Amino acid sequence: MPWVIRDVVNDINKAVAQRWQSLDPLRPRPSDLPEGCTPPLLALGDNSRPSGLGVCRHQHVAADTLAQTWGAATKFVLSMRLRGPDVAAAADDLLTQWRDHLTSQPEARKDDTAAIVNWPSRDVTGVPALLRHGLQPLTVIAVRPKARPAGRSSPASTQTGAVIRPAGPDDLDAVTELEVGVVQYDANFGGSIPRPATEALVRAETQAALAKRPGWTWLAERDGQPVALTVVEPPAAATWIAGMTRTGATAYLQTMFVRPDERSGGIGAALVRHVHGELDARGIDLTLLHYSQVNPLSAPFWHRMGYRPLWSTWEARPAATLR
Ligand SMILES: CC(C)(COP(=O)(O)OP(=O)(O)OC[C@H]1O[C@@H](n2cnc3c(N)ncnc32)[C@H](O)[C@@H]1OP(=O)(O)O)[C@@H](O)C(=O)NCCC(=O)NCCS
Repeated sequence: MPWVIRDVVNDINKAVAQRWQSLDPLRPRPSDLPEGCTPPLLALGDNSRPSGLGVCRHQHVAADTLAQTWGAATKFVLSMRLRGPDVAAAADDLLTQWRDHLTSQPEARKDDTAAIVNWPSRDVTGVPALLRHGLQPLTVIAVRPKARPAGRSSPASTQTGAVIRPAGPDDLDAVTELEVGVVQYDANFGGSIPRPATEALVRAETQAALAKRPGWTWLAERDGQPVALTVVEPPAAATWIAGMTRTGATAYLQTMFVRPDERSGGIGAALVRHVHGELDARGIDLTLLHYSQVNPLSAPFWHRMGYRPLWSTWEARPAATLR
């Protein structure tokens, strides 16, 4: 990176660090900008002073990974650093430049593509610019800090009559079925894109997870039948997303599912309270998860369970529909 750009990056990162902290103490410090497909896009404010930087990355997600079930096969991801405090004009400028860049990319016109921006949820002044460019808020990354000691309780048998226990290798069929249930439900909101290989990949990943000790998968059972599932990625496996929040032992809650005929009866809350007790006891400081913005069940549920929005993921699908 030429030194002039490096100076601009350092200068803007300093301002962004201050603004992010004042907006939300659970946000990370801004990292170095990733290497983009072109030199960084630059927005100029009053007096031609740099007011924002943007870096576009092109990501091809392999068909033999579960990542392709949770998003488009080709992603164009824009990372923005905006000086603020009002970021609307700089965001608008960068999104316009990015649209022109994507227009020159024939691949962005293919069906299975997305233009993606991860936006700080509390940075509300930029939202009109995202909407104006045709982006939709599809998913949320939510965060829960470790509970204070008085807030914990984790009974293995709940008032719902369900029994909560760790899952093991013998639960492969049940856990796979419940995992696939989440994929199917989230497809209603564009959160997942079921693929031909999805079920086999879920099964293989589940088999590997259930073989590990200690386990990070829990089931709620009624009359000996699994009715609800929670799966967590421990910090060693959650490094791909841990940088989205402040430093600390960070886990990722990857799956939550209650069978349709058991919902709204308290089983989901009981299972999550139990899992939170385990996570707190295992020294987890922060837990992250994704939910679909318009999933009518998950957003109220997670807020009730102590999570709140940290990042909102805005997308235009296919990527060329960015305007
Ligand atoms: C989200 C889900 C796990 C909740 O489990 P549940 O057992 O139904 O939830 P509970 O009965 O324990 O309710 C806990 C809280 O969730 C919310 N909730 C429950 N049912 C709800 C409904 N029908 N509509 C909106 N919110 C609801 C309420 O805030 C409730 O708390 P309250 O009863 O004290 O007000 C379950 O609905 C589910 O599996 N949904 C489909 C898959 C899914 O969306 N998974 C999450 C993906 S991120």
